[in-house]
Amino acid sequence: MTIELRSVTDDNFVEWREAVRHGFGQQVHPDDIARLRNDRAELDRLVAAVDTGSERIVGTGGADSYSLAVPGGATVPMAGVAYMTTSVTHRRQGAFSNMMTQIHDAARDRGDIISGLWASQSHLYSRFDYGLAVNSYDWEIDPSFGAFTHSPISPDDESDAHVYFVDADEAAAMLPGIYEQMHHDTAGSVDRNAGRWRYELFDDERVRGGASALFFAICEEGGEQTGYVAYRMRRLGDSDMGTLEIVEQVSVTDTAHATMWRFLLNFDLVGKITAINRPADDPLWWMLSDPRRLNRISHDALWIRLLDIPKALEARTYNANGRLKVGLVSESQPAVAGTYVLDIDDSQASVKKTTDKPDVVMTPADLSAIYLGGVTPGPLVEAGRIDAITTGSLAKLHGMFTTDSAPWCAHYF
Ligand SMILES: CC(C)(COP(=O)(O)OP(=O)(O)OC[C@H]1O[C@@H](n2cnc3c(N)ncnc32)[C@H](O)[C@@H]1OP(=O)(O)O)[C@@H](O)C(=O)NCCC(=O)NCCS
Repeated sequence: MTIELRSVTDDNFVEWREAVRHGFGQQVHPDDIARLRNDRAELDRLVAAVDTGSERIVGTGGADSYSLAVPGGATVPMAGVAYMTTSVTHRRQGAFSNMMTQIHDAARDRGDIISGLWASQSHLYSRFDYGLAVNSYDWEIDPSFGAFTHSPISPDDESDAHVYFVDADEAAAMLPGIYEQMHHDTAGSVDRNAGRWRYELFDDERVRGGASALFFAICEEGGEQTGYVAYRMRRLGDSDMGTLEIVEQVSVTDTAHATMWRFLLNFDLVGKITAINRPADDPLWWMLSDPRRLNRISHDALWIRLLDIPKALEARTYNANGRLKVGLVSESQPAVAGTYVLDIDDSQASVKKTTDKPDVVMTPADLSAIYLGGVTPGPLVEAGRIDAITTGSLAKLHGMFTTDSAPWCAHYF
């Protein structure tokens, strides 16, 4: 028996999708296969690992196409790796590794500069030179502790910011524009095309997990839509203190953020608010009078791998000018090993390989981790991951790479 990598076509798409869900221990609804095919899947980016004895699909993988915002506001093409599974009957025979290699090669051939993913298990991807570049938080708060001591909106401000409810059709028309502004302003975020919006806003009974259908509210200020929230309510009866479950909340101004959270913390008959995937530096904690009441659980969000190291380094801007020589060591990518000199002028880097001795040495995974500016290099030096060789090189690395705001990826894939 051998495992062969094959293309995914309309002939084997249903078997492939069933194999993906099976790999995660789930049955798949026929409508969801059609939904994925119509709104999300790019057949030429998918791969099936087939057992040539049984001719069954025993491994799955692929990528979605995204543009990733990097520090400074540019976007770069990114392969959003997803759907990775190997059947438990065929584990540890290299199917996953072979699929990852094929997906990376194909992504590079089509011009992707970065690949990114959300990992189901955090020990899987460093071996492929992925670094954890975006952390986020899941929140829980009892809204009776929702008083603010600080807000960007002072009482004598004349802001007309206000929140109103919209229905699902209105939300489908309004949310993409607000999200797009956030994407433009936020390193670590990815775009969402029309199909992906339909996919994300799908709200059939079976995806609600016993909670309500989605509610949507918009923040508007000065005639511009500057924020939205999508949430569900989980409540047993009319008098139950329910849970308001925030699925996604995006604000593009500080006023919209404060207005939206004032609104969310003001409901009657809500004993708990939960919110998933909040930015690592969300200001709400600094606005609350009793911030400890905002329980925050950190988790790894976006992992990235720099597919084209010079192009990726030249795409972002830097917080300090100067010259730094970065040595890369890699078992999985011997071709990228070596020393890269970054000459940063006017916040922009030009990058070349050099035979000079490096100032700092790290793996491509650790370069990926610090690339979006949210992971500071100091702890990676202390952890024995980055070697700061020349005097002052850690301060230089920190000053150049670290950004003013933490990166955030609002979109899970
Ligand atoms: C994770 C998974 C895809 C690995 O598939 P696989 O075909 O067995 O992986 P490979 O044979 O290519 O192994 C690749 C390497 O990862 C290691 N590895 C894979 N899964 C591992 C696990 N769960 N724990 C520890 N190591 C693991 C292997 O030991 C191997 O290491 P090596 O290169 O040092 O020998 C598979 O176990 C799976 O489908 N798990 C459930 C779904 C899942 O979590 N998918 C990931 C989605 S983000």
